[in-house]
Amino acid sequence: MCLCKHATPCHSPSHHHTIITIITIIIPSHTAILDAIATHQPKVVFLTSPNNPDGSTIDEESLLAILNQPVLVVLDEAYIEFSGEPTRMPWVLQRPNLVVLRTFSKMAGLAGIRVGYGAFPDGLIEYIWRAKQPYNVSVAAEVAALAALSNMPYLEVWGGGLWRGRCGGWVE
Ligand SMILES: Cc1ncc(COP(=O)(O)O)c(C=O)c1O
Repeated sequence: MCLCKHATPCHSPSHHHTIITIITIIIPSHTAILDAIATHQPKVVFLTSPNNPDGSTIDEESLLAILNQPVLVVLDEAYIEFSGEPTRMPWVLQRPNLVVLRTFSKMAGLAGIRVGYGAFPDGLIEYIWRAKQPYNVSVAAEVAALAALSNMPYLEVWGGGLWRGRCGGWVE
């Protein structure tokens, strides 16, 4: 498994019982990631775009180069709404080795509720389903996520407020 430095600790499976070797890339340029893949031949590469905490993003060319390697690429887009970058979620339809993850924590202000979603290639879903813990999303989390989704104006006001707050003060 290949992680870039600063990739959120929740990607680190240290609490699992499986034996996993984690390769951490200190300066995650796309050439460093390609080198790490060639050297260590990981099965999975975790990328975070925008990254936390530095906000850096992965450009299209770099992502394509990494996707052309024989690895599963898990792209965490937790902060995508605040980046101005397009989501890569539609790419999952064309790329059998791409997973894109999103969370309601930032876009809907539901941090701590631990509810999110992802786009997975068809061939992977069956295996994810086998490994999924039962009741991994609580009823409260489900209700909160559905309420957020049914209220797009709330999501736009919340996301827009965060965006403006980050780029120079709250303006309503
Ligand atoms: C980049 C990134 N991905 C994922 C998460 C975790 O999201 P969740 O709150 O849904 O567990 C965080 C939390 O701060 C994060 O910074």
